[in-house]
Amino acid sequence: MRLEGKIAVVTGAGKDSRGIGHGIAVALAREGADVAIASHTLANALRVADAVQEMGRRALAIEIDVSQAESVEAGIAEVIEAFGRIDILVNNAGITRDALLVRMREEDWDAVLDVNLKGAFLCSRAVAKAMMKQRSGCIVNITSIMGLTGNAGQANYASAKAGLIGLTKSLARELGSRNIRVNAVAPGWIDTAMTDSLPESVRESILKQIPLGRLGTAEDVAGAVVFLCSDEASYITGQVLTVDGGLVMI
Ligand SMILES: NC(=O)c1ccc[n+]([C@@H]2O[C@H](COP(=O)([O-])OP(=O)(O)OC[C@H]3O[C@@H](n4cnc5c(N)ncnc54)[C@H](O)[C@@H]3O)[C@@H](O)[C@H]2O)c1
Repeated sequence: MRLEGKIAVVTGAGKDSRGIGHGIAVALAREGADVAIASHTLANALRVADAVQEMGRRALAIEIDVSQAESVEAGIAEVIEAFGRIDILVNNAGITRDALLVRMREEDWDAVLDVNLKGAFLCSRAVAKAMMKQRSGCIVNITSIMGLTGNAGQANYASAKAGLIGLTKSLARELGSRNIRVNAVAPGWIDTAMTDSLPESVRESILKQIPLGRLGTAEDVAGAVVFLCSDEASYITGQVLTVDGGLVMI
């Protein structure tokens, strides 16, 4: 097991077991980590915590709003109280509020930036203190290929996800001397509740553009996260690992 004895925090749990947060939490547990699941919706976090416990690991479900500093500080304090340390943070919580620019409401812009970008800043700041004391740690930010390419109708989401890449690289530079690695995973089209609303015609045209010919799964994303958290990635920091079936090649 590659993460034996590690304590992980994963934000955002998803509506069902196809959620990327669910996949990541279970994959970290399978590799030996104890996992705290911090999500807006406690019922979802509890469901993921059950799945982690079924793998024989300790789990903690916390209700947290990643966009609110007080909520984040209290949630991270709860994890440290329960487990004594934090080795891994996965900033996975995210939302979309799609609209074309001229129809995009200011609150849609703010909400998406607050959860996807400010949320990762607040959670990273909260765990960094513990990780700096430990002189080790690993942060993985779940960005998106939309942060690399942009997407019509997603100016808010693409901006937040591009910002997350800047945050990743800045923190990697800032925290490297304390042996804290910071990387990002950029999923492409993943089959989750977030993509359920895609019209069939759009889904078909997307599939035609993906060299591997299928949507990804939460497990596909989780595999990349586990790798980045493992010792196999001990000399990797400040990188963006794209998990998209070959859709975007840079
Ligand atoms: N599904 C995809 O195709 C895809 C592609 C690229 C990137 N992503 C990213 O992967 C991550 C997970 O996506 P998913 O598809 O599993 O989505 P999802 O909607 O199933 O899960 C997102 C989770 O974030 C939580 N969340 C939302 N606002 C929150 C807040 N303020 N505080 C705490 N938690 C909050 C939700 O409760 C939910 O549990 C997101 O960051 C998303 O942007 C998804």
